[in-house]
Amino acid sequence: MMLLLGAFVGPQALADKVALDADDWGHPGGEDCASCHEKASPGLAAEWRSSAHGVAGVNCMDCHQATADEADAMEHEGQIIATIVSPKDCGRCHATEYQQQAGSVHAEAYALIADRVPALAHNLTGAAMQAAGCDQCHGSQVSVRGDGTLDPATWPNSGIGRINPDGSRGSCSSCHGRHAFSKAQAREPEACVRCHSGPDSPDKEIFEASKHGMLYKARHAGMNLDSDSWVAGVNYTAAPTCVTCHMGAAGKIPATHDVGMRNAWSLNSPVSQRQYLIVLEDGSKLELPAADAPPRRGSEVVKADGSIGKVKVVATPERRRQIMSLVCLECHSKTFTEGFMSQFDAVVELFNAKFGEPAQAIMQGLYDAELLTPLPFDEPIEFTYWELWHDEGARARHGASMASPNHAWWEGMYLVGRNFYSRFLPQARALAGERTGELVEPWIRQSEQHAWLGQPQQANPILGHVPAPDPDPAAATTEAE
Ligand code: HEC
Ligand code: HEC
Ligand code: HEC
Ligand code: HEC
Ligand code: HEC
Ligand code: HEC
Ligand code: HEC
Ligand code: HEC
Repeated sequence: MMLLLGAFVGPQALADKVALDADDWGHPGGEDCASCHEKASPGLAAEWRSSAHGVAGVNCMDCHQATADEADAMEHEGQIIATIVSPKDCGRCHATEYQQQAGSVHAEAYALIADRVPALAHNLTGAAMQAAGCDQCHGSQVSVRGDGTLDPATWPNSGIGRINPDGSRGSCSSCHGRHAFSKAQAREPEACVRCHSGPDSPDKEIFEASKHGMLYKARHAGMNLDSDSWVAGVNYTAAPTCVTCHMGAAGKIPATHDVGMRNAWSLNSPVSQRQYLIVLEDGSKLELPAADAPPRRGSEVVKADGSIGKVKVVATPERRRQIMSLVCLECHSKTFTEGFMSQFDAVVELFNAKFGEPAQAIMQGLYDAELLTPLPFDEPIEFTYWELWHDEGARARHGASMASPNHAWWEGMYLVGRNFYSRFLPQARALAGERTGELVEPWIRQSEQHAWLGQPQQANPILGHVPAPDPDPAAATTEAE
C-alpha cells in the first residue's frame, strides 16, 4: 500500500493532509468489489478509479465497510457493507470537513423542517411529495428495513441535512458527486443550485444575472478550479463563485465547510433579523436574534433539540459581516464593499419596516380575532401572505445581497409592493370587515412608509405618454402658415 501511494504523491504528504496514517486504507476486501462492479456498474467503478481516492488507493471497502451491529449493515459477496457512507464515515479520514459540516446550518436542514412538512407537503399536496420534494433538498430521515435494506420512501436521497442510520447528519455527496468526490467540481456554482434555485432561494438565477456570474462564465478558464490551493485573490481573480463567498479561503480567512458563518441576516423569514452565531462547547452551533442581549461565555442556552448547551464563543452579526467583507476586499476596495453592504442592508430594513412587520401584525390580528382558522393554507390570504415574504420577499432580499438588480427589483420588491397593495391589503380589509379600523388600518397609518398613499403625486407612469387631443385642425393650419 505504502508503495502504491508513494508512486503518486508520497505517503507522508497524504497522511498530513487527511490526518490519518496511510496504512488505514487499502482494505484487503476492496479490490474484489471493484473488479466485479466494473461489470455490474461500470460507470460507477470508472468514476472511482480515476478519482483522487482511486489514485490514492482508497477503495470501495474503505468507505462501504460496516460492522454487523450497524442498523444498515448487510452481507454482500462475503463482506459486511453498508450502502450509505455517512459524513461520519468520511470523517474517519476527513475529520476537519466532517466537524465543520456537522456544526453547520446545512446539517440542520431536515431537523429545521420536520414540524413544517405536514402542513406544506402533506396537507397542501400529499405524502408522496415529501420524498420527491422537500427531502431531496433538505434530506430525509433514512429508515432501515428488517433485512438492513433502505426503505425506498426515504432513500435514494442525498439531501443536505439527511439523518443517517448512524445518527450523523447530512450527506457529503450532496455537493461532491459520487464516485469522483472531486473538489474542483464542488467549487462550481452547479454544486449548489440543485437546491438553491426557485422561488424561495433563487441564488442560481441571481448569481447568473449578476456581474460576478457573467464574468465567471466568460472567464471560466481563469477560475483555476483544479488547483490544489484555491485562495481568492491569489489562485484566481476572474470572479467569485458561491463557494468563494460562503466557504472559500480568502486572504487570512480559511476555507470552511460551514456555509452559515459569514451571514449576518436571516433572509428567509417573514421579518429578517440580524443574528448572533453561538458556538457551544460540544461544537454545535445556534443562531439567536441580535435584538436579544448576547449570551455570555459559559452561560447555558437551550439548543434546537431542547437540550442545554454551554456557550463557548459568540460571533456578533458585525463580526460575521466583517468576515464576509474581507472576502470582497481581495478584489474590491473598502469603500466599494462598505457602500455595497449599506445598500443591501437598507433593502432588508425597508422590507421589514414597510411590508414584513405590518403584514405579520395584520395576520396575527386576524388569527387572534378568529377571522381566520388556525389551519395554514386553507384560506386565500394565507397564500398571499406566504408568497409576500417567502417567495417575492426572499427574492428581493437575496437579489440585493448578491448584486442582481433584476431580482432585487422586478422579480423581487416590485412584486412585494404589488402583492401588498393589490392583494394582501384588500383581502385583509375584506376579512376584517367593520373591524378594519382596528385590525388593519393602524399598521398602515402608523407607518411613514405608507404616507405616500395620502399625498398628491407629480407624475403618473402607468398610462405612459398620452398624446394630447388633436387641436382644432383649422387653428393648426393657421399657425403653420
Ligand atoms: C461478484 C460481483 C460483485 C462483487 C464481488 C461485489 N458486488 Fe456489489 N453489487 C453487485 C451487484 C450485481 C449489485 C447490484 C444488485 C442490485 O442491482 O440490486 C451490487 C450492489 C452493491 C451495492 C448497492 C446495494 C444497494 O443497496 O443498492 C453496494 C453498495 C455494493 N454492491 C458495494 C460492493 C462492495 C463494497 C463490494 C466489495 C465488498 C462489492 N459490492 C462486491 C455485484 C458485486
Ligand atoms: C470515498 C468513499 C467511497 C468510495 C471509495 C466508494 N464509495 Fe460507493 N458510495 C459512497 C457514497 C457516499 C455513496 C452514496 C450513498 C449514500 O450515502 O446515500 C455511495 C453509493 C454507492 C452505491 C449505491 C448508489 C448508486 O449510485 O447506485 C454503490 C452501488 C456503490 N457506492 C458502490 C461502490 C463501489 C463498487 C466502490 C468501489 C469501486 C465504491 N462504491 C467506492 C462512497 C464511496
Ligand atoms: C429545491 C430544493 C428545496 C425544496 C424542494 C424544498 N426546500 Fe426548503 N429550503 C431550501 C433552501 C435552499 C432553503 C434555504 C433558504 C435560505 O436560507 O436562503 C430552504 C429553507 C426552508 C425553510 C426555512 C426558511 C423558509 O424559507 O421557510 C423551511 C421551513 C423549509 N425550507 C421547508 C421546506 C418544506 C416543508 C419543503 C417541502 C414542502 C421544502 N422546504 C422544499 C430548499 C428546498
Ligand atoms: C455544501 C457543499 C459541500 C458539502 C456538503 C461537502 N463539501 Fe467538501 N468541499 C466542498 C467545496 C466547495 C470544496 C472546495 C473548497 C475550496 O477549495 O475552497 C470541498 C473540498 C473538500 C475536500 C478537500 C479539502 C482540501 O483542502 O483539499 C475534502 C476532503 C472534502 N471537501 C470533504 C468533504 C466531506 C467529508 C464532506 C461531508 C462531511 C463534505 N466535503 C461535504 C463542498 C462541499
Ligand atoms: C479511508 C480514508 C478516506 C475515506 C473514508 C474518505 N476519504 Fe476522501 N480522501 C482520502 C485520501 C487519501 C484522499 C487523497 C488526498 C489528496 O489527494 O490530497 C482523499 C481526497 C478527498 C477529496 C479531494 C479530492 C480532490 O479533488 O482532490 C475529497 C473531496 C474527499 N476525499 C471527500 C471524501 C468524502 C466525501 C468521503 C466519504 C464519502 C471520503 N472522502 C472518504 C481518504 C479518505
Ligand atoms: C442538497 C441541497 C443543498 C445543496 C447541494 C446546497 N445547499 Fe445550501 N442549503 C440547503 C438548505 C435546505 C438550506 C437551509 C438550511 C437551514 O436553514 O438549516 C441551505 C442553506 C444555505 C445557506 C444559508 C445559511 C444561513 O445562514 O441561513 C447558504 C449560505 C448555503 N446554503 C450555501 C450553499 C452553497 C455555497 C452550496 C454549494 C457549495 C450549497 N449551499 C449547497 C440545501 C443545499
Ligand atoms: C460575491 C459574493 C457572493 C456570491 C458569489 C454568492 N453569494 Fe450568497 N450571499 C452573499 C452575501 C453577502 C449574502 C448576505 C449575507 C448576510 O446575511 O449578511 C448572501 C446570502 C446568501 C444566502 C442567504 C443567507 C441568509 O443570510 O439568509 C444564500 C442561501 C446564499 N447566499 C447562497 C448562495 C449561492 C447558492 C450562491 C451561488 C449560486 C451564492 N450565494 C453566491 C454573497 C455571495
Ligand atoms: C475573486 C474576486 C472577487 C471577489 C472575491 C468579489 N468580487 Fe465583486 N467583482 C469582481 C469583478 C472582477 C467584478 C467586475 C468589475 C467590473 O468589471 O466592473 C466585480 C463586480 C462586482 C459588483 C458590480 C460592480 C459594478 O460596477 O457593476 C458588485 C456590486 C460586487 N462585485 C460586489 C462584491 C461583493 C459585495 C463581494 C464580497 C461579498 C465581492 N464583490 C467579491 C471580483 C470579485
